[in-house]
Amino acid sequence: MTALDPPAETAGTRTGHLDRIAEVPVWRHRIPVGHGVVTPGTEDTVAELDRLQIPLHLDGQRVLDVGCSDGYYSFVCEQRGGTVTAIDDESSFLGGDERRNGLRTASDLRGSTIDYRVADVHDLATASVAGPFDLILFVNVLYHLENPVLALRQLAEVARPGALLVLKTYYRTDVRVWVRGRCLGFDVMPAPKWWFFPGTELGGDPTNWWAPNRAGLAALLEATGWSHRFTGRWRDRLYLHARRTHA
Ligand SMILES: C[S@@+](CC[C@H](N)C(=O)[O-])C[C@H]1O[C@@H](n2cnc3c(N)ncnc32)[C@H](O)[C@@H]1O
Repeated sequence: MTALDPPAETAGTRTGHLDRIAEVPVWRHRIPVGHGVVTPGTEDTVAELDRLQIPLHLDGQRVLDVGCSDGYYSFVCEQRGGTVTAIDDESSFLGGDERRNGLRTASDLRGSTIDYRVADVHDLATASVAGPFDLILFVNVLYHLENPVLALRQLAEVARPGALLVLKTYYRTDVRVWVRGRCLGFDVMPAPKWWFFPGTELGGDPTNWWAPNRAGLAALLEATGWSHRFTGRWRDRLYLHARRTHA
């Protein structure tokens, strides 16, 4: 898979770039911004890119990156020819002075034309996020949502018929067995199930609300207008590609 390249042309200086990056309090993604500078994120986005299997060629396609954070996957889609709208409600920062993603800074330094909006996926109309989109990235966001059914319906509304949804989420296996301190999980139940975390039960993070089993995720997609195929599993994350079925 092609990872994200530095921008072809870079204005400014290395010191100027480092100063701009230091103004952003928290970086999640490692984004090359030119002059040999890479943003100091912690997520292994290159390995993740392999697991997500985002199409390599996006010429002429409109892309929506939901919960984009610093925008690594948005920049990848732009590099692959897509016209990208990226949204995030910036809830991961839980308010306060440090409430901001690094996307604006990275976009500026890369000379990107990504359209970034602070928006809630439950309410795309308020932010004037209008389809139709050909590709929707929904990466590690589902379990943060108060209303997954509403969100998937909203995305179906702005998806072109046949559009591709690339989804990764935290989920729970039906059976867990510990062998020599290692947890082995198995997806065995045909019945949909969702765990609810009204407080900080999941990872101490109050923005975590729901986790499905594999059947629960499949049922959610079927109920909201998507046909899917699972593409992989890595630790406690499940990956799938879904297509918008005709309304
Ligand atoms: C775990 S991060 C994932 C970021 C990125 N997609 C990735 O995989 O690296 C979840 C992101 O979704 C955003 N988010 C959470 N709830 C949201 C909502 N209702 N609407 C839009 N974005 C949301 C958070 O602010 C955060 O940036």
